[in-house]
Amino acid sequence: MVIYDKSRKVFKLDTANTSYVMGVTEEGYLGNIYYGKKVDTTDLVYAMRTDEHPFTPSKMPGEKISFMDRFPMEYPFEGTGDSHGGCISIKDSKGQEGLELKVKSHNIYAGKKGLKGMPSARGGNTMSLDIVLSDEALGAEAVLSYSVYEECDIITRSVKIVNISDTSFYITKVLSACLNLETEVSDILSLHGAWARERHIQRSKISYGSYITESSRGEPGHQEHPFIALLSENCNRETGSVYAMNLVYSGNFTVKVQKDQFDRTRVYIGINPERFCWKLGSGEEFEAPEVIIQYACEGINSMTRNFHDFFRQYILPPEWVVAERPVLVNNWEATYFDFDDDKLVQIAEEASGLGIEMLVMDDGWFGHRNSDNSSLGDWYANREKIKGGLKDLADRINALGMKFGIWFEPEMVSPDSDLFREHPDWILALDGREAGLCRTQYVLDFSNPDVVDYIYGRLYEILKSANIEYVKWDMNRPIAEAASLSLPPDRQGEVMHRHVLALYRLQERLVTDFPHLLLENCSSGGARFDAGMLYYSPQIWCSDNADPVERLMVQEGTHLVYPLSTTGTHVADSPNHVNGRVTPFSTRADIALAGTFGYELDVTRISEEERAMIPAQIEKYKKYRHLIQTGDYYRIASFSENNRYDSYMVVSKDQNKAILVYVQVVTDSNVLTKKLKLYGLCPGRKYIVDGAEYLGSTLMNAGYILKPLRGDFQSVVIEINSTCTTA
Ligand code: GLA
Repeated sequence: MVIYDKSRKVFKLDTANTSYVMGVTEEGYLGNIYYGKKVDTTDLVYAMRTDEHPFTPSKMPGEKISFMDRFPMEYPFEGTGDSHGGCISIKDSKGQEGLELKVKSHNIYAGKKGLKGMPSARGGNTMSLDIVLSDEALGAEAVLSYSVYEECDIITRSVKIVNISDTSFYITKVLSACLNLETEVSDILSLHGAWARERHIQRSKISYGSYITESSRGEPGHQEHPFIALLSENCNRETGSVYAMNLVYSGNFTVKVQKDQFDRTRVYIGINPERFCWKLGSGEEFEAPEVIIQYACEGINSMTRNFHDFFRQYILPPEWVVAERPVLVNNWEATYFDFDDDKLVQIAEEASGLGIEMLVMDDGWFGHRNSDNSSLGDWYANREKIKGGLKDLADRINALGMKFGIWFEPEMVSPDSDLFREHPDWILALDGREAGLCRTQYVLDFSNPDVVDYIYGRLYEILKSANIEYVKWDMNRPIAEAASLSLPPDRQGEVMHRHVLALYRLQERLVTDFPHLLLENCSSGGARFDAGMLYYSPQIWCSDNADPVERLMVQEGTHLVYPLSTTGTHVADSPNHVNGRVTPFSTRADIALAGTFGYELDVTRISEEERAMIPAQIEKYKKYRHLIQTGDYYRIASFSENNRYDSYMVVSKDQNKAILVYVQVVTDSNVLTKKLKLYGLCPGRKYIVDGAEYLGSTLMNAGYILKPLRGDFQSVVIEINSTCTTA
């Protein structure tokens, strides 16, 4: 619900359990008054403290700068007194930076407008509020848009800058949102990693000064993540307050947490202003990406569940939310570049007999690519390897009753490629310097529409030429040189953002032209796993590291925010190709249940014993696939915290079915059998677990005792059924 109390000049946005309140001062400044547990009144103007020293400028003009520095501005602006560093900065035609935004008008409406050319949460049963702020001297407007997703306790925010002057100006910073939090929060929860170690959870203390996490790699990257949560002291999985923000964006971002002299914590999120400068001509608009905001008052698990529900309902492509994802076999770790069509058919023959539903042909099928140093950009099948052509290969796979999928890396070009030889100016490069290589490849200049159209043309032709039902879209290097030969000097600061816009446009075209295509994004594993990409692809390859122990941590961090069904999880070889760890086949499969199950190995070459286990593993996944895709997720224990074991549950929305997954990473000697408190069940309902009957409240309070497991890297998946379903 969105309310405007005209007499008090107060806006109040209510979700099921929270309120977000803003007020307008006499002079028209928009202040953030309150965000937290639901309040039942708009009588909150006192909380802006405009009657305290320094009074608002109309009452005490001599202290205007002190006021600006103290006031909890909803969308703080730079250069006119707020010394925190705000959300927006604009350089005018005289080269001066500084603006002052005041409320001009507002509009409350049913539904949601969405963003142009960028992903944003889908509308549905939402109410929205637009507040137009303006700086008349500059001729700039900032339209703040809010949409309320009541049942998920989520609010989305975005900002549109409009140039209403008759000259161009330059936006040098435009963050999507900031929250002014006065008390309560003491800890930061964020996600960090590296290649093959993505999104590990980090908890740290908020202290005076600033904490920043950001990316300038042209994508979020393996290292940082466009998500932040601020926690109340002692907040844990089940109790305490959580303020969380997640940016729907796949490029350079910044997140800043700042504790100031007033003991107030501000948290900002948006496009990274570093190497960003956008020229906005008279009458033009610029939209900053959307941010998903929530306040959860029942601990970290409740934040997670709100995000999962929200992503499933409003971000993921609707067609794939409940549609079953095929169990796939991908040939990357099976063959690397050393394959041909016959080898793939051989894998598919074995795989189809085991119950695998799709074969994905990974890197190496095009140009003359036999290693990672050639042919990106030459999107034509290599007829020495794919001898009968793509259609013939797809038909042979389909004849085995399997779907066929294919790998692309559309944003890149190899120096050794026909495309680069023909168009050496189609790459991002600083004029007069040799462009830097990474994995022996250049980044295509997506700010040049000819490049984007050419690449789309190739994708389209390939996908039309055969029955290809899945695409893995990869991006295997960061962007370094944000410089384009196709843009004038005063637009070079637009390159990084233009790349992301073109990427979105391409994926939008792809899923529009091929509406039933299953798109899986990927970036050297999980370097571009974010809400923006999830708008187009319901699943993203989570990490190049499929070692089950590493995956416990990668998947725990990823599932802190994103639903299990969004993570590409495969069973790979042992010893693991990345870290050499040896683990049981059964444990690898149990850990791969928490996502879109598949195999990343050569099913023709593994042992008879392991091969014989595959049909039962697939059956198990298929049995729980719907539950995993639609249920509520409860984290019970974390290996990254206790260094011994890991556990989580997924409970159906009607609380009649659940699975409990337990992984004993390091064996316990000399301790009691493990007792786990379960979550999410109906207290008064009876449940059957491993043949015995328990009351839900018993399992959730007294706990469940696991049968002992022997050895390291052991796992068990336990089914929990209410007697209503077993009767
Ligand atoms: C990336 C991906 C891998 C694989 C290779 C192919 O690293 O994460 O899964 O597709 O590229 O080059």
